[in-house]
Amino acid sequence: MKVTFYLETSREYDVDVGNDEIVGLVNVRHYETSRDKDNATVRITVKKSYWSKGIGRNLMNKAIEFFNESTLHRLELRVVKDNERAMQLYRSLGFEEEGTLRDFHKIEDKHYDVLAMLVVKK
Ligand SMILES: CC(C)(COP(=O)(O)OP(=O)(O)OC[C@H]1O[C@@H](n2cnc3c(N)ncnc32)[C@H](O)[C@@H]1OP(=O)(O)O)[C@@H](O)C(=O)NCCC(=O)NCCS
Repeated sequence: MKVTFYLETSREYDVDVGNDEIVGLVNVRHYETSRDKDNATVRITVKKSYWSKGIGRNLMNKAIEFFNESTLHRLELRVVKDNERAMQLYRSLGFEEEGTLRDFHKIEDKHYDVLAMLVVKK
């Protein structure tokens, strides 16, 4: 099973942005190797001019809903450790900290620690 989905928040979630502009994306990517096949990684992004309107929470809730209805066991994500907004959102949705990937991301010649977070079915 491989799953990728994109949602246009202004249509799918009744977020009134006044036009048909795509303002957010959510992507759940399933691992393809046999031993990892019960894992998926989620990513969200929201256009900056639409931040703090609940769209990110809405998108992540949709991904969690999808995960809960799937046969997947783990839903994981990675976030740069200084991204307090995103980490706060993920914690509030039940994501737990799994560990730090040191110097994992390189952005404009600088390396950043990345936090791995997950929701795992009991
Ligand atoms: C992270 C991101 C997706 C959040 O999207 P958003 O639409 O602004 O999020 P929401 O409006 O749903 O806010 C969700 C939570 O973020 C946090 N938050 C929002 N504004 C905040 C602020 N000014 N300061 C700190 N935390 C804030 C709060 O915990 C908020 O929870 P609440 O609903 O209880 O207020 C968005 O900032 C983004 O796309 N950032 C760039 C890409 C990125 O960082 N992606 C994640 C990489 S893993």
